[in-house]
Amino acid sequence: MKGVAILGSTGSIGTTALRVLARHADRFRVVALTAHGNADLLAVQEAATQAPFIGLVANGSAHSVPERWRRGSECLTEAATLADADIILNAVVGAAGLDPTLAALNAGKRVALANKETLVVAGELVRQAAVSGGGEIVPVDSEHSAILQCIGSRSGAGVRRLVLTASGGPFRDWSRERIEQATRDDALRHPTWSMGRKITVDSATLVNKALEVIEAPHLFGVPYDQIDIVVHPQSIVHSFVEFVDGSVLAQVGLPSMELPVLYALAHPERINESSAAPFDPVAASPLTFESVRLDDFPALRLGLAAARHGEAAPAVFNAANEAAVALFLDARIRFVEIAAAIESALDVLGDLPGTEKNALLVADRAARQLVNERFGC
Ligand SMILES: NC(=O)c1ccc[n+]([C@@H]2O[C@H](COP(=O)([O-])OP(=O)(O)OC[C@H]3O[C@@H](n4cnc5c(N)ncnc54)[C@H](OP(=O)(O)O)[C@@H]3O)[C@@H](O)[C@H]2O)c1
Repeated sequence: MKGVAILGSTGSIGTTALRVLARHADRFRVVALTAHGNADLLAVQEAATQAPFIGLVANGSAHSVPERWRRGSECLTEAATLADADIILNAVVGAAGLDPTLAALNAGKRVALANKETLVVAGELVRQAAVSGGGEIVPVDSEHSAILQCIGSRSGAGVRRLVLTASGGPFRDWSRERIEQATRDDALRHPTWSMGRKITVDSATLVNKALEVIEAPHLFGVPYDQIDIVVHPQSIVHSFVEFVDGSVLAQVGLPSMELPVLYALAHPERINESSAAPFDPVAASPLTFESVRLDDFPALRLGLAAARHGEAAPAVFNAANEAAVALFLDARIRFVEIAAAIESALDVLGDLPGTEKNALLVADRAARQLVNERFGC
């Protein structure tokens, strides 16, 4: 029986994980749940799981919550280091997920990592924490889960190339002129995946794919020049791995996050999932692949450049994007201004140093401030 702490249990991945865990209650026990502000859903989840630790990050008086709940952002690291938590599913959105990931790895836990921003902001520090603390990261992102399932370990030995698939998002076949007029509703209408609002916008700008490329070397030790992206609108092939002998493996399945979540909990085992529908290749066909339109999705190009630049550039890219997406969701900037805001932050802050945690936090804060000052009024 493994104890599982779910950080971000009220979100899209968190609720998916609770559905998966409810079907596998003979193997996993939910020992902690956290949310940012959704106290009502958290209370429902507490009643359903009987989790002994409940944390709510938002500390405002607007929330009247039981005395036994922990309050404030420290509840994330507390949940991530509980003695009876063997696996920490980090399903928090944004850079707020970094500290609990580091704490869990330092405490020797398995981190089932959905929070991709963790590795983007501080991939090297996260890797070091895993080595020194004895913890391990198992990715939840469907693309990285696919790669792990193809190579079977976290070593990129024998791998010639990773090819991450991208749905292309809602604007895949829109002209550049039409994308310039895109609204918030347009951006939130993802063609194949149902996800939280931030990652849905990231999928529309293709920032999401840049974040995934930045993550991959930290997970598999494969350098950036051996990572490619291909657009695959059906989201059936979750990624490809090309090996040095020319063989190519892919992991395929219907677009659902239940399998990557279950796999991250059970890896390297496979657990019988009777609710998984049999895969029908005929029904899933045709499967098509296209080149990515880098010129029309400038945020992806900026993210790939930040990845190659290294140091604090990926943290600046991530923080500027988080701030810009928040402004966009608040209807304060237009869709195309997200990329403009990222570019502006990278122009000013892209050369900041980034080997120490403090330096990365400084870069993160400066990028948010710059975007809010230049674009938020
Ligand atoms: N959704 C997917 O299919 C998918 C796939 C691959 C990777 N991911 C990654 O998984 C992560 C979560 O995505 P999601 O779609 O599940 O997001 P989401 O639906 O927005 O859920 C986010 C969760 O994090 C909590 N949260 C928000 N801000 C927080 C903060 N500052 N501190 C602590 N907790 C906070 C939210 O609590 P409240 O509900 O109380 O606000 C909620 O529980 C993201 O990094 C995303 O990129 C998601």
